[in-house]
Amino acid sequence: MKIGVLTSGGDAPGMNAAVRAVVRASVWHRHEVIGIRGGYNGIFARAFEPLDRRSVSNILQQGGTFLETGRCARFLEPDGPAEAAAILRDKGLDALVVIGGNGSYKGALALHQSGFPAVVGVPGSIDNDVGGTDLSIGFDTAVNTAVDAIDRIRDTAFSLERVFFVEVMGRDTGHIAAAVGLASGAEAVIVPEEPTDIDLLTTIIDRGFEAGKRAAIFVVAEGDDAGGAARIRDRIDAATQHPLDDRVVILGYIQRGGSPTARDRILASRLGVAAVDALQSGQTAVAVGERCSEVALTPLETAVQEQPPLDLQILRLAEILSGVRTSR
Ligand code: F6P
Repeated sequence: MKIGVLTSGGDAPGMNAAVRAVVRASVWHRHEVIGIRGGYNGIFARAFEPLDRRSVSNILQQGGTFLETGRCARFLEPDGPAEAAAILRDKGLDALVVIGGNGSYKGALALHQSGFPAVVGVPGSIDNDVGGTDLSIGFDTAVNTAVDAIDRIRDTAFSLERVFFVEVMGRDTGHIAAAVGLASGAEAVIVPEEPTDIDLLTTIIDRGFEAGKRAAIFVVAEGDDAGGAARIRDRIDAATQHPLDDRVVILGYIQRGGSPTARDRILASRLGVAAVDALQSGQTAVAVGERCSEVALTPLETAVQEQPPLDLQILRLAEILSGVRTSR
């Protein structure tokens, strides 16, 4: 087979490890591999480059994606996928591995439905909002980066008796916020999946102060319905009985970069090889993933409809562990 590989959408730590695994597994099975630069844009730009074992040396530990990534407007035009499928067929490709999130999976499915023989999706997104898997590549690293930052913020919060509103990534989902909040001992976690109750958050601050707390960390997902961290801070400031010395920190893109954790390297390596195995066994439109620690294949059509639900129990745990009882 001649297998193409591209990374698409927002980058995520571990994408390089996944490309490496796809390339090395393909070479192992004596397939040819073609890297496509810049996501789906690279198809239209004919940015193809043959990859061999050595092309992916020394990238396992690097953040970002050496193939570069992008969001492709042309692909979203009505004839975009058919044109892309024709270019890939013309290049002699038999299969394409797409490493990315939900939007990238939709693109892969559209390619297949436009006559391209075989596509496999590998979940790469820090948001952990990709169907067909419990965990997507990059999530663990992003969570660890944010936790490390909040540990530092907590030092200064404690020294100066301040409240910090820390905004983490998650345009549509609170997976990062929930995991980060629990791992950093946040007083509250604010996510888009649950309506934000400013009165409740104010109660957490007021009761915490009454119980002797002098510092607090609120973790806010950027996509929360009440607005970002700054807006929520303003609303709580207006409602609390305690004049707060508070600060807002937006962690932003530092969560997208950096060397992947061992967890992400292992996941990427496993799923990259699984993608080639899926093609070997004749699959034509699947997503590879990890479910209950096992490699799982899901029809791409099903995976694009799925959004792993946020475990709201995590928010309850954060509340119990912060020690401030509210009515939630
Ligand atoms: O990678 C996912 C994500 O980090 C979202 O949480 C965030 O809102 C978005 O990407 C922003 O990415 P960009 O600015 O590249 O569109």
